[in-house]
Amino acid sequence: MKSERLRIGTLKLRNPVLTASGTCGYGLELARYFDIAVLGAICTKGLSLEPRMGNPPPRTCETPAGMLNSIGLANVGVEAFVRDKLPELRAAGATVMANVLGTSPDEFARIAARLDAVEGVHALELNLSCPNVKEGGLKIGTDPGGVREAVAAARGATKRPIVVKLSPETADVCSLARAAADAGADAVSVMNTIRGMSIDIRTRRPRLGNILGGLSGPAIRPIAVRLVFEVSRAVSIPVIGIGGIMRWEDAVEMMLAGATAVQVGTASFVNPRAALDVLQGLEAWRRAQKCGYDDVIGAVRIE
Ligand code: FUM
Repeated sequence: MKSERLRIGTLKLRNPVLTASGTCGYGLELARYFDIAVLGAICTKGLSLEPRMGNPPPRTCETPAGMLNSIGLANVGVEAFVRDKLPELRAAGATVMANVLGTSPDEFARIAARLDAVEGVHALELNLSCPNVKEGGLKIGTDPGGVREAVAAARGATKRPIVVKLSPETADVCSLARAAADAGADAVSVMNTIRGMSIDIRTRRPRLGNILGGLSGPAIRPIAVRLVFEVSRAVSIPVIGIGGIMRWEDAVEMMLAGATAVQVGTASFVNPRAALDVLQGLEAWRRAQKCGYDDVIGAVRIE
């Protein structure tokens, strides 16, 4: 069954299951396990103008029903991505959503312009929500004015569809989503991680080198479902749901709440085929229901 709503701006998604940024490197890591071209898109680790080393280790730790990470946006930089990673992603036939990191509107614009100039990047996701860095991320992304400026700058530098990844760490995520839409975003992705902390009681030290980190996994899913529900009613652009999707049933829940598509992240650390498993389960369910995705998006019954 055809879906008219599986779109992000000019990008028509082949299905609604994407990977989440930062959970599979540049996507090629997953190509060892399955054909990454079958996914709706591969969302890359965030790309900065210059390479970044990231935060001190340990950078991840397990928590009940989830994990904390404080990677600090370690990445190879946009030039090395274009030179070394993108050709392989193109050869694999992947739909590529490049996650973009900036510390200022100008940086967002410069990276967007660089990615606009190459073949094989189908959409950009602006990271306005990383909780693990002092510059950029949350600092820009929790202020509607900051969101507006960053999105407008990127919008002026690229014709590719722009997704804005939002943080849950705000009293009013809807105003951030509206700011993104007003400035020209084609979609928002909801949500990034929530800051948390874990302490090893034997050493009395934080488990993460950076002390705090972002919590992800099933523990945060009800929060993500709530925010997707609220944001999808506040803006007319599509919402991509992220947060603790482990199984296809979780993707259905997120879509019923209002998500046009979903990103699978933490589940890939447990099972590198998780995104594929979610996609196959979702497709089988949809066929059994004899419905299209358009019939599922936002179809929660509220009497
Ligand atoms: O620390 C990190 O690299 C996390 C990034 C993010 O959550 O966006």
